[in-house]
Amino acid sequence: MADILRISEVSVRFGGIQALDHVSLSVAPGEAVGLVGPNGAGKTTLFDCISGRRRPSGGSVTFDGRSIDGVPGYKRARLGIGRTFQRLEVFPELTVREHIIVAERAHRGVGALWRDLLNLSRVRPEEQERVDAILDLVGLDHLADVPVAALGLGTCRLVELGRALACEPKLLLADEPSSGLDHNETDSLAMVLRVVQRERAMAVLLVEHDLQMVAKSVDRIVVLDIGKVIAEGRFDEVLAQPGVREAYLGAGA
Ligand SMILES: Nc1ncnc2c1ncn2[C@@H]1O[C@H](COP(=O)(O)OP(=O)(O)OP(=O)(O)O)[C@@H](O)[C@H]1O
Ligand SMILES: [Mg+2]
Repeated sequence: MADILRISEVSVRFGGIQALDHVSLSVAPGEAVGLVGPNGAGKTTLFDCISGRRRPSGGSVTFDGRSIDGVPGYKRARLGIGRTFQRLEVFPELTVREHIIVAERAHRGVGALWRDLLNLSRVRPEEQERVDAILDLVGLDHLADVPVAALGLGTCRLVELGRALACEPKLLLADEPSSGLDHNETDSLAMVLRVVQRERAMAVLLVEHDLQMVAKSVDRIVVLDIGKVIAEGRFDEVLAQPGVREAYLGAGA
């Protein structure tokens, strides 16, 4: 099957820093790929090039069979590229369900105005159904009517994931979703990611420092170091390579 995402020779330069240096990688439909590497390797910069937040100085990105170079970020989201952020972006006073409703409406272009998006007293039955399905998928049905302000960080990360899923992405970009979570929360997030990837046949590109979570969540990893892909393949095989261990643990590893 044709790749859902194909990155070819993408480069980004910030002043004297080559943040990405001819990076190429592909993700198949429904595949989960881990993007790992030390701090400053260029992982977030690569996500920015995929989601349209940053324009590479060279190379190209193809999504779902067409070039998206020059396509603005909001259109890429409509095409099916979803994203969760490293820094949490939620509205404390809205409930879990309301977060999903707003995302779902924005995605469908239901309300042209913020007033329509936020008119939460009028939820149509078919809307309700889709929202309930997402709450169920991320395991938040029992917390649906709780304001997000009352929830812990781990649960908020699930809200963010639910919100990204409301946009029915074909590819989800997750940037350090376990950051700030404890061991149990990380485990349950990894499990939910796996379930949604399989049930929705959604491809996932996961940036994550917690390598145990990566091992549980992906089919394959790509290692980035100082802007270059230095290895890719099965998790255990790649991690056993001396060059990869060196990049992580320093010379002599
Ligand atoms: N807006 C910017 N302006 C200048 N330099 C930047 C900018 N964004 C990133 N960089 C630099 O580009 C390189 C790659 O950064 P990036 O944030 O993509 O790394 P990362 O792999 O996501 O790191 P981390 O694991 O710490 O999140 C780093 O050297 C960083 O300092
Ligand atoms: Mg980063």
